Amino acid sequence: MKTSYSTLAIAALTLCTATAGYADLERGKRLFNQSCAMCHGKQGEKSALDQSALLNTLKTDEIITALQARKAGEIVGAGNAAKNRLSEEDMKSLAEYIETLK
Ligand code: HEC
Repeated sequence: MKTSYSTLAIAALTLCTATAGYADLERGKRLFNQSCAMCHGKQGEKSALDQSALLNTLKTDEIITALQARKAGEIVGAGNAAKNRLSEEDMKSLAEYIETLK
């Protein structure tokens, strides 16, 4: 039994790391608290500079699209400096984490 469990664990781990854009909740949490919470609130409950929607009311794909648009410069806002640095994985991880704040 032990062998099959560890084989399964290794298989699962390989699958996760191999999947492009794998969202990592811990990473999302760390990033959010470091670079987003000061404007958007620890729980995504604040309107940043009274200009943004409340992040904890947005859907995962809405968050990802919003971040991509700002990184691409299609939408310019006061938080763009924080968004420009994000990779696709970061965006997915952030969106997954924000989902848990609801
Ligand atoms: C300096 C303050 C600031 C920081 C830091 C910041 N933002 Fe923002 N954010 C804003 C402002 C202001 C807006 C509204 C203007 C705009 O449309 O970009 C906004 C808009 C957004 C939107 C779109 C919401 C809507 O109204 O549709 C999302 C999603 C978002 N931010 C996520 C994040 C994430 C995730 C981070 C961390 C990587 C972050 N922001 C960091 C200020 C900030």
